[in-house]
Amino acid sequence: MDLTVIVPTFNEGPNVAELVRRTTDALPGRAIEILFVDDSTDDTPDIIRAVAAQASVPVRLLHRDRPVGGLGGAVVDGIRAAASDFCVVMDGDLQHPPEVIAELLARAEVGDADVVVASRYIAGGTSDGLANAVRTLVSRGSTLLTKAMFPRKLHNCSDPMTGFFLIDRRALDVEDLRPRGFKILLEILARKQMRVAEVPFSFAPRFAGESKASFSQGMRFLTQLTMLRFGRMSAFALVGGLGAVANLLIMWGLTAVGVQYLVAAVIASVITIVANFLALEYLVFADMREESGLMRHRFVKSFTFNGIEAIVRIPVIWLLVNEAHIQSVVAAGLTLVAAFVIRFVFHALVVYAPKKARNAQIAALPEPLEDELAA
Ligand code: GDD
Ligand code: MN
Repeated sequence: MDLTVIVPTFNEGPNVAELVRRTTDALPGRAIEILFVDDSTDDTPDIIRAVAAQASVPVRLLHRDRPVGGLGGAVVDGIRAAASDFCVVMDGDLQHPPEVIAELLARAEVGDADVVVASRYIAGGTSDGLANAVRTLVSRGSTLLTKAMFPRKLHNCSDPMTGFFLIDRRALDVEDLRPRGFKILLEILARKQMRVAEVPFSFAPRFAGESKASFSQGMRFLTQLTMLRFGRMSAFALVGGLGAVANLLIMWGLTAVGVQYLVAAVIASVITIVANFLALEYLVFADMREESGLMRHRFVKSFTFNGIEAIVRIPVIWLLVNEAHIQSVVAAGLTLVAAFVIRFVFHALVVYAPKKARNAQIAALPEPLEDELAA
């Protein structure tokens, strides 16, 4: 096997046949397989099975009943299940022209690169297929920001946001990856220094269906960037800091419309505690939720911690002022810093502690569709 083409799909039924046809035609004489890693909620898996039965190359389906890590998680599961070490990752909507795969493969076979990126942003490439000016601006801006944050690792990569690339699996520490949402190439390149080569391509309009990109994917990207660069603790701090500002803004708004200040403080606290917990769940600890039991148990632990922290902090301030003779505001500040560190440790090690062994979580085996095939 020369190459596995990994295609993550979420409700892409109408694109499957065309994608398999063009990919097959683009790589004559090559031993390839196409592996769909599918999280669809519609009839896409049936369409993939039907297309596979007619295809002249092996087409496999890995349908995930528990889709962990979104698009990025699907790609990582695909890399694990691939039959060859060379893996091309390509979107399932034909925005990534399959004809470019031949160039990616030829470039990889030169033998001096671990990753060959299909780039929109080098000479010969275009991003015309991006839906509108806003997406173009967001793509350009986030590319610059990301490159600025990883100047060395991304030095040779003009398009770390692309979802179209070839990777040599042998160069990758798959277990180190923490896929969150769309930006799997960034995850791969930021973890470890890779030898990167590039091939230009033109990002095409979608063949059929609509984009799954969203505002929440954007938030996930920013969290991913913060965590890759500064660690989980800084993302935790950012969320906590924004929560404190939100708390004050809500309280200010409520008192401005005449709510009594203590009532306003309680309402503001309840809203920020819940919002803070949701941000921890879906952003900061999103990759650890799956293995750490029930959400309501985590909420109770987190909530109880906040309560105990508030109660314990007061006598500690008293001790610091009366026994250690520290100025009261400084004492309060010290307890806040200590509380922040303890809160982070508690959440990382207790609230989001894995309930089951990591290796108990083996990805479902792909369906052996090759059996049914001619080639
Ligand atoms: N398995 C799986 N699970 N596939 C998914 C999921 C998911 O949760 N979400 C999206 N996909 C699949 C889609 O079905 C499609 O094949 C591919 O991932 C890309 O999704 P699109 O909805 O087409 O995203 P896009 O075109 O907005 O974004 C693409 O271009 C960006 C560059 O501008 C992606 O390639 C991004 O990774 C890329 O950064
Ligand atoms: Mn797309």
